[in-house]
Amino acid sequence: MLLNTEDFRGRARKNLPRFVFDYIEGAADDGHCLRRNLRDLAAVELTPRVLRDTTTVDTSVEVFGRKWALPFGIAPTGLNGLVRPRGDGLLATAASRSGIPFALSTASNMRLEDVRAAVPEGVQWMQLYVMHREMAGQIVERAARAKYEALILTVDVPVSGNREADLRNGFRIPFKPTARLAWDVITHPRWSMRMLPGGAPDFANLTATDGNAGSANMQAALLARAMDRSLVWETLAWLRGLWKGPLLLKGILHPDDARLAVDHGVDGLIVSNHGGRQNDASPSAISALPRVVAAIGGRIPVFMDGGIRRGGDIAKALALGATAAFVGRPALYGLAADGAEGAEAVIGLLAAELVRSMTLLGATSASALPDALESASCSLA
Ligand code: FNR
Repeated sequence: MLLNTEDFRGRARKNLPRFVFDYIEGAADDGHCLRRNLRDLAAVELTPRVLRDTTTVDTSVEVFGRKWALPFGIAPTGLNGLVRPRGDGLLATAASRSGIPFALSTASNMRLEDVRAAVPEGVQWMQLYVMHREMAGQIVERAARAKYEALILTVDVPVSGNREADLRNGFRIPFKPTARLAWDVITHPRWSMRMLPGGAPDFANLTATDGNAGSANMQAALLARAMDRSLVWETLAWLRGLWKGPLLLKGILHPDDARLAVDHGVDGLIVSNHGGRQNDASPSAISALPRVVAAIGGRIPVFMDGGIRRGGDIAKALALGATAAFVGRPALYGLAADGAEGAEAVIGLLAAELVRSMTLLGATSASALPDALESASCSLA
């Protein structure tokens, strides 16, 4: 029975070759930061308010002039095509059917125009990595033309985190098939048939980031996450010149960086440690959130991701001041379990859990959730 996101995780583990499952699960170094995300969310206490009319519970939020049915979206994750062919199209479909936004990674296996065309009416945001300014500029222009509504610049990857599981599995870029990988693929025939119709494994194509990166050189740089490390606060003016819509920074943890972001005209922040995949010493996203929210003082919306596994976790993020949350791995578990339907089922589970939490807390709207936060009962705030 698939009752929660952990059950979907188990199904994903069964369905996917090990190198793909480990890539999704991947955390930096010893996984301390990944575990901290989960542990600190579990530690947040919300105190119910009682005798309030909870006949109707409104989970919607308004973000940059668009209404989201639920206060969470799908975080950008690269190489979703390894989980299912056209994985980003399937996730965007699931998100749109559920009335929530979908963020497309620069490292998608699909062209950004094709993902947009699959769901023209959905709320779609584009995530940007800057490996090379010219290439980044082209992606931004294409995203604007394809009517992506917001641009997320991810700022916590000056260099890729150390993911030892990928190294052990021989999953590295450029992709070189090894006996171990071949065995992994052969022992997952359903995944292989779907991925490699025709039978012959075409590993090079599996990791191709079809068209977003442009030249083969850029693709290699993207996949190796060879970033432009000369990016600084002043560089944001260059992006601002190219992108007229809302601009968000993802990967903010320090309150001083949050203030700098506002000073540099950023429209929103995503408090995130990249799901524990970058700096293993980073604080959990949920513990960094209240400090960032305090520094921002309501000037721009603050979002958070990292460790959301239950609808109740979303309630916690909102209680601590987030406008909405994002989920990374759980959406991929759903995708691995059953394509778009699986991802939609995961979103539905999180939604049902959130409504139950809000009802139990006596919060009939997202904005009422901070009421449930007694400062004495929250060790993190
Ligand atoms: C990511 N993440 C990520 N972030 C980003 O800005 N660009 C990217 O290409 C990727 N790629 C990526 C791949 C995979 C497999 C994972 C799991 C994550 C980070 C992602 O957006 C988000 O910050 C975390 O996934 C949130 O943590 P949870 O929800 O997975 O715990």
